[in-house]
Amino acid sequence: MKIVIFGGDGFCGWPTALGLSSDGHDVIIVDNLSRRKIDDELGVSSLTPIASINERLSAWEEITTKNIKFINVDVAKDYDGLYSLFSTLRPDAIIHFAEQRAAPYSMKSPIHKRYTVDNNVSGTHNLLTAISDLSLDCHIIHLGTMGVYGYGTSGMEIPEGYLNVSINDGEIVNNSEILYPTNPGSIYHMTKSLDQLLFQFYVKNNGLRITDLHQGIVWGTQTKETRQDDRFFLKRIFLV
Ligand SMILES: NC(=O)c1ccc[n+]([C@@H]2O[C@H](COP(=O)([O-])OP(=O)(O)OC[C@H]3O[C@@H](n4cnc5c(N)ncnc54)[C@H](O)[C@@H]3O)[C@@H](O)[C@H]2O)c1
Repeated sequence: MKIVIFGGDGFCGWPTALGLSSDGHDVIIVDNLSRRKIDDELGVSSLTPIASINERLSAWEEITTKNIKFINVDVAKDYDGLYSLFSTLRPDAIIHFAEQRAAPYSMKSPIHKRYTVDNNVSGTHNLLTAISDLSLDCHIIHLGTMGVYGYGTSGMEIPEGYLNVSINDGEIVNNSEILYPTNPGSIYHMTKSLDQLLFQFYVKNNGLRITDLHQGIVWGTQTKETRQDDRFFLKRIFLV
């Protein structure tokens, strides 16, 4: 399959790209390298060396003879670039990791709040618009977060997916399926709640095929692919 990984230079995207390439898929990474710029902004650097994207990709080709393409596009700001890459590549599947992914960063200041909402919500909406505009037959997989359920509700039986709701109004009873209500605790988590509404809308109105995973924190420093060479290190480890 031809698979485009948005955010493929990141912690989750990089090992996913290697895993899928290793399985024989044609993998294309799209990333604007904003995560690396945020590390610079915060004045932090990793205890494990993180090679540049070009170095990583050359090393992958050198060791496995497999090629992963890299395209630098800002999915939140460059709709034309996104549209053009979709119309050229026409992927079978896309994996969407390309969002500002830190709750604390999203709450630092009004600038960081606005950046997180603009980046995450516009990026997701641009992807959905371009795919439906081009009538692409591709499956979208997105990594949301369990934080949409609200950490204050831990220990509760939390409903997932769609809920059957009955509304009694005098004699009238309406049954309907709605998304479960969310209870985000940060601007970052709120963007994932907004993402899921966008997904519901585009599934309902444009027939898109979307899987939205509400993932907890991902742990680990290596996968079997990244263990093959130090240039494949994926985890940024910081001294705080
Ligand atoms: N890591 C976790 O524990 C975890 C848990 C649940 C959900 N998630 C979600 O998974 C996704 C990936 O998380 P991660 O930990 O790999 O984060 P990460 O910051 O390491 O990776 C995200 C990548 O997306 C890129 N990106 C961001 N905005 C972009 C834009 N506008 N255009 C193009 N590229 C852009 C960044 O440069 C970065 O390489 C995020 O959406 C995050 O919310 C992560």
